[in-house]
Amino acid sequence: MKPAIKPLLRVLRGESLKPSPVWLMRQAGRYLPEYRALRGKLGGFLDLCYAPEAAAEATLQPIRRFGMDAAILFSDILLVPQALGQKLWFEPGEGPRLTRVRRAEEAAALRCEGLVQRLDPVYRAAALVAKQLDQGVALIGFAGAPWTLATYMVEGGPSANFAAVKAWAEEDPAGFDLLIDRLVEATSLHLAAQADAGADAVQLFDTWAGVVPAAQFERLVLNPTRRIVERLRATHPNLPVIGFPRGIGLLYGRYFAETGVTALSIDATIAPSVAAETLQPLGPVQGNLDPALLLAGGEALDRAAIAILAALQKRPFIFNLGHGVLPETPPEHVTRLIALIRRA
Ligand code: CP3
Repeated sequence: MKPAIKPLLRVLRGESLKPSPVWLMRQAGRYLPEYRALRGKLGGFLDLCYAPEAAAEATLQPIRRFGMDAAILFSDILLVPQALGQKLWFEPGEGPRLTRVRRAEEAAALRCEGLVQRLDPVYRAAALVAKQLDQGVALIGFAGAPWTLATYMVEGGPSANFAAVKAWAEEDPAGFDLLIDRLVEATSLHLAAQADAGADAVQLFDTWAGVVPAAQFERLVLNPTRRIVERLRATHPNLPVIGFPRGIGLLYGRYFAETGVTALSIDATIAPSVAAETLQPLGPVQGNLDPALLLAGGEALDRAAIAILAALQKRPFIFNLGHGVLPETPPEHVTRLIALIRRA
């Protein structure tokens, strides 16, 4: 018998399903006691990312506990800058730190040669997960979009105002575009390698797309994303690409139409009815429950989830959050949400 197509992939091909397939950004991680135990055994977060068996285990933990329709590979967007030659470490309680890239010569020194070799443990983890997943569950690979990666690489970590990265982009366009070019190439290679290892679909996280000034949106968000989609289509024509340009408000429609992504993941600021009217005609939509409501639980969670399903379930739709699961989220709230979606 031919294996049935996974529900997530059916929606990405344009089918409307009821119940909607569901997975959650940051569904693996610190809110799960089993993740904290696994991480405690291995040492740091990065050690976990580079240990294929453990990374595969962290990927599968939420699937076993909650039964989502997709697993997202346990890894991090900042492994790509590290594989390009930047030093990366995590300050306990503060988040990521990177050695900074601020000049054209420094961008030129970033090397794509050998990148997929250095990231081989990620692909081995993907292959291990693909082998272990139930037939109906999809594996999602991912990467950070060039602009979002550039913010971390130039600022040296998270940023409050993105002053350095914005100044460089404006003052030295040729130098900064060199950085973006390297990231287009690195990201395309990394996503293609995850697909080759068994990922059924990939998601591009443009977490900081919403801080780009309007005049630079095309150059810093649209064009790099479109180039990555084109490169992937050339070698992997059937690989669905989900775009998540967080916080772009009125520009979501343009992003969807002009980048060529297969599906659009939207944040919680977009009203579900507006998404149904203006974005779903362009293709499958994914989102967009506020992670704070998943943390809150109870009636507020149910109401918001029901409103999203009512507005979006008639057309191709994947239930997700508007951003990642917050670390304080009680796992029982996730159980409750999945049960509600399955009943819908
Ligand atoms: O479950 C999943 O979604 C898969 C794994 C995943 C992680 N990071 C694991 C992680 C994914 C898809 C990411 C993406 C990622 N990483 C993004 C884009 C999405 C988003 O949330 O905006 C960004 C910006 C990063 C960079 C990053 N990694 C930051 C800023 C931090 C520190 C803040 C934090 O939440 O801890 C990380 C660390 C990180 N990435 C953890 C996990 C599970 C926490 C590590 C730990 O303490 O164990």
